[in-house]
Amino acid sequence: MSEILDEVIRRYINTKRDSLLPLLQEIQNELGYLSEESINRIGQMTGLPTSKIYGVATFYDQFRFEPRGRFHITVCHGTACHVNASQQIIQELERVLKIKAGQTTRDGTYSLEVVDCMGACAIGPVININGKYVHGVEVQKVKEIIDSCISNSSVYESSR
Ligand code: FES
Repeated sequence: MSEILDEVIRRYINTKRDSLLPLLQEIQNELGYLSEESINRIGQMTGLPTSKIYGVATFYDQFRFEPRGRFHITVCHGTACHVNASQQIIQELERVLKIKAGQTTRDGTYSLEVVDCMGACAIGPVININGKYVHGVEVQKVKEIIDSCISNSSVYESSR
C-alpha cells in the first residue's frame, strides 16, 4: 500500500497547497479514502504541513477519511432527487445506520456518501449500493433496503 502511495505522491512532488486537489483525488481513487498515513506521507514527501493538507481535504465534501464499508451507499442530493425527498432519505439512512454521511459503521458493514446528480434523474430519488442503482426510493423503505444488503449480499457484492 505504501508503495502505491509513494508512487502517486512522487508524481506531484512539487505540489503546493493550492494544487493539492488532484493529488488528494488520486490517492482517494487508489485507496478509497484519505487515511491518516496518506496525509502524513504527503506531508513528509512534499514538505507541506499536515494541518494544511487536512485543511484542503476537509474543505471539499468529496473526500472520505474512513475506509468504505462492505456496502457503500451513495445517495443523490441533486436537484431532481431533492424535490423528491432525497433529504428525508438521507436523514433516514443516517438514523437507521447511526452514522453521518461520509462515515462508515463501526463494524465496517455500511458506509454512506452524499453526491450530486448521478445522471439518473428520471428514476429518482436514487441511491446506489456498491455500484447498483435502487430507484424510486421512499423514506419508509429505507430500512428494508438496508436490510436487503445483507439478505442479497451476493447481488451487491458481485457489483463491487
Ligand atoms: S438529481 Fe438525482 S440522479 Fe440526477
